[in-house]
Amino acid sequence: MIEWKETYDIGVEKIDCQHRQLLVKLNEFFDACTNQQGKEKIEETLKFLKDYTIEHFGSEEALMEEIDFPELAEHRKTHAEFVQTVLDLEESIKTKGVSVLSTIKLNRTLTDWLINHIHKCDMLIGECISSRKGNEAV
Ligand SMILES: [Fe+2]
Repeated sequence: MIEWKETYDIGVEKIDCQHRQLLVKLNEFFDACTNQQGKEKIEETLKFLKDYTIEHFGSEEALMEEIDFPELAEHRKTHAEFVQTVLDLEESIKTKGVSVLSTIKLNRTLTDWLINHIHKCDMLIGECISSRKGNEAV
C-alpha cells in the first residue's frame, strides 16, 4: 500500500486530486496482485486507465500550455507512451488472454509511472508555476 505524501503535491488542486485518484486505483491493483487476484483486476484497471488518462493528461497538458511549460513536447510524448502501453496491454489480453506476465507488466508500468513520472516530471510543472509566481511578486 503506497500512501500519498504531501510532498507529492504539485500545488494545483485539480491535478493533485487526479493523482490521488490514480494512487487509489494503483493500490487496489497492487493489493489484488498480492492476493493473487491480479488477473481478475487487470481488465478493470486497464479500463479505468483508458478513461483516466484522457481526462488527466488532458488537464495536465492544458495546464502546461497555459503556463508555457518549457518541456511540454517531451512531457506530452511520455503521456502518449503511457497510453500506448495501456492499449498494447489491452490488445494483448484481447488476443492472448490475461497472463501473469501481463499483470507483472502493468504492475511495473504503474510503479514506474508513480516514481518516475508523477514524483519527478509532474513535479517540474509545480516548480515552474511557483517560480513564475515568484517572479511576478518581484
Ligand atoms: Fe504528466
